[in-house]
This record gives sequence, structure tokens and C-alpha cells, in this order.
Amino acid sequence: MNVLIIGNGAREHTLAWKISQSPKADNLYIAPGNAGTASIAQNLAISAGDVQGLVRAAQDNKIDLVMVGPEDPLTKGIIDSLDQLGIPAFGPNQKAAQIEGSKVFAKELMFKYGIPCAKSATFTSFEDACDYAKQQPLPLVIKADGLAAGKGVIIVTTYEEAVIALDDIMKKKVFGDAGNRSLVEECLVGREASLLAFTDGETLTPMVPACDYKRALDGDKGPNTGGMGCYSPSEFFTPELREHVMETVMKPTVNAMAQEGCPYKGVLYAGLMITADGPKVLEFNARFGDPETQVILPLLKTDFVNIMQAVIENRLAQVSIEWSDESCVGVVLSSAGYPESYKKGFPISGLSDVNKDTLIFHAGTATNGTGQVVTDGGRVLTVVAKGKTYSDARDKVYQDVEKINFEGCQYRKDIAIIEP
Ligand code: AMP
Ligand code: GLY
Repeated sequence: MNVLIIGNGAREHTLAWKISQSPKADNLYIAPGNAGTASIAQNLAISAGDVQGLVRAAQDNKIDLVMVGPEDPLTKGIIDSLDQLGIPAFGPNQKAAQIEGSKVFAKELMFKYGIPCAKSATFTSFEDACDYAKQQPLPLVIKADGLAAGKGVIIVTTYEEAVIALDDIMKKKVFGDAGNRSLVEECLVGREASLLAFTDGETLTPMVPACDYKRALDGDKGPNTGGMGCYSPSEFFTPELREHVMETVMKPTVNAMAQEGCPYKGVLYAGLMITADGPKVLEFNARFGDPETQVILPLLKTDFVNIMQAVIENRLAQVSIEWSDESCVGVVLSSAGYPESYKKGFPISGLSDVNKDTLIFHAGTATNGTGQVVTDGGRVLTVVAKGKTYSDARDKVYQDVEKINFEGCQYRKDIAIIEP
């Protein structure tokens, strides 16, 4: 079978790596991919936002199965286009992908169906939003409605900051049309974790929970990033808590989507805050997480292509999904300056010096004219190791992280240091 994976991050390298282990996957293509994916798949030079180009490539290469990594093509309706051509594709259609594409849609759904989340109000007028913010206790969370590459959420501690954030979103339109509507939200306190589940619209099967490190610097300091590391499972996300989240969040959400006329298929990702009042939804994503995928899929024991097909063909109930009971830790190596501006093109050394069981998933990498792997983005690599315990996995991963180098290489040193 010919399989096409869409995207170019470490998440997509992980998806390609996992799919390549399936006896069903004969030929792998990835669009656009990176230097790492080139060793297991054929990279196609089509960007993940070019839905027409991707659909054409799926036809030209006689693709039998498509896995969509990022949200952008999902919200642009790539699943609908592939469906029309009879090409099986994993992910929600355009209507269902609104659960990530519009935070207002997701909030209205949660309020209507009693799914636990932060108190929030939606605004189309800047003045109304400021008036509301003035009456609320601080801190507050200001959000743009639409997709903003993970940057559309701003936590503010003063009213003045709230006004600046609302002005940026609604008047200056720093996130474009994503800021036509804004949300002013209660700031939840607790521990954050991600729970992802496979669903065919009826059956839901949870994955192992994961904890993502969003801030750039040790001790959760510095600006927000796309994610600097991750571990799975999460020590505080007990099996009882997972069951509770399945019953109060995941299943009601999939049922609600069906009732609203947008049945949901693919991966449902809930970003959760475990508060003193129980777990509450911070946001939904319509896809696999990055860097969660890099630490979740190495623990999956079941054939991934079988799961993808069962989701697409509405027979997930027939598949038993098994997980390793090991721990998995991933550390992201990024370019100096990330998440702000950074330089590219620095040769990466040490990639073949790591332990044979260590996994290196590429993100911003490319091959230069002389065949050398060089940096080509902000987040460059995720280095991943498994172990019997968190500390075992962490020791292994950091030993190997130290062997890899490029000019300006930076990474957090406190990933998976579990607080008592
Ligand atoms: P999002 O892009 O919606 O995932 O939000 C990015 C991050 O902002 C989340 O991972 C949380 O750390 C934080 N966040 C979002 N909403 C809230 C909230 N209501 N209370 C506290 N933190 C939040
Ligand atoms: N880990 C955050 C995300 O994938 O959106």
C-alpha cells in the first residue's frame, strides 16, 4: 500500500516512522518532510497548506492511505477533498475540524453539552471585550478565535495588559482574521496534561496521557514555544483520572459533535488543566500533538496502519490497542533565538553517535549541497528514549542529547524531572 503523510515536523517524522513499521505500508511518501523523513520515505516538495497540490500528489502517486499531521490542511478541508476522490484519509473533515479551528465553536459546544471548561465570553467588539475584562478577576486569558500557530493565547495579569492583548488581536489583527472574534477567559490553575484518543465517531480509545513543556527555559520560564519536551505516561494522570476524563470530556464531546451534525473521526486531543475542581478542557485539537506524538507512538505496540484503517472504516471497536508499560521522554533541541528569530544552515554533528535504541525525530532539518544535515528551523530535533522508569528514560535521553551539536543548540535540562 502507498501511504502519504502530510507535514514536516518531528510529529510527522514519528508518524512516518511508526507507519513504516507496518507490514502493510510498502511505499511511504511525505509532503514536504525533512532531512530525517528522507531516509524512510520519499519527500514531496509540497507544503502542508497547499491542499490542491497535496490532493493532486495523492492521485499521481496512487496513494491508498493518507495521514494528516497539522491542523491547517484539516481546517481547509483536505479530508473532504480526498473523500470525494475515494482516497482513504485519517482525520476529521472540515466541519468537524472546527473544534480546533474555532475556539468560539469549541467553547459553545462545551457550554451547550456541559463539558467542563473555563468560564469565558466571546466578543466581536474590542470595547465590549475591554468592558468585560475590567469586571473580571485577574489573571485572565485572552484568546483569538481562529488558528494562530499556537500563539493566539495570552495570559495577562493586569487590565492594561488585557487591553494590549485585545488590541493586538482585534484591532491590529496580528493573527489576521483569526482575531475577528476574541475570548476573555477565566485563568485555570492546576497541572496541565494532554489526553489524546482515537475515534471513529462512535468508539473512543484513549492513548497514554502525556505532559508537554511549553516554555522555552528551565523551570517553566521564558516565552511559550511549540513545545520543548514531553514525557509519557503522566505520573499524576492515574487510570481513574483517565477514565473520568473519558466519561466527562471525550465521549460527551464526540457525541455532541455527532448531534451537531459534524461527526468526528481521527484523533481528538484534549489539552486539560487538572484543577482542584477536577479536570477542565483548555482546548481541543483535531490532530496528534507535537511533541506528544514523539513520546506516545514509541509506546504503541499495535500496528498503527490497522488502527488508521479501523478509524476510517468505522470499526475501531474491533481493534484492541496495546501500549508498552515503559516510560518515554523526549527532549527538543532548538536553534538559538527560538521562538523568536534564529539563523539556519548550521551543520548538525553526532546524529550517528547515539545509543542504538535512541530515536531522533527531525523537525527543522535539511540536507545541504554537500549532503550534510543542517538546521532549517526553530525546533530542530526531538531526541527520544524509553526506559523502565522516568529517570531511566531521562538519563538515556540526556546522555545522547549531549552527543548531538550544532551552532546555537539549546534545550531544556529539566524535562521529566517529576515533582514529588
Ligand atoms: P492553547 O493554544 O489553547 O493550547 O493554549 C496555550 C496554553 O495556554 C495552554 O497550554 C495553557 O498553558 C494556557 N491556557 C489556555 N487557556 C487557559 C486557561 N483558561 N487558563 C490557564 N491557562 C490557559
Ligand atoms: N503540544 C501542543 C500541540 O500540539 O498543540
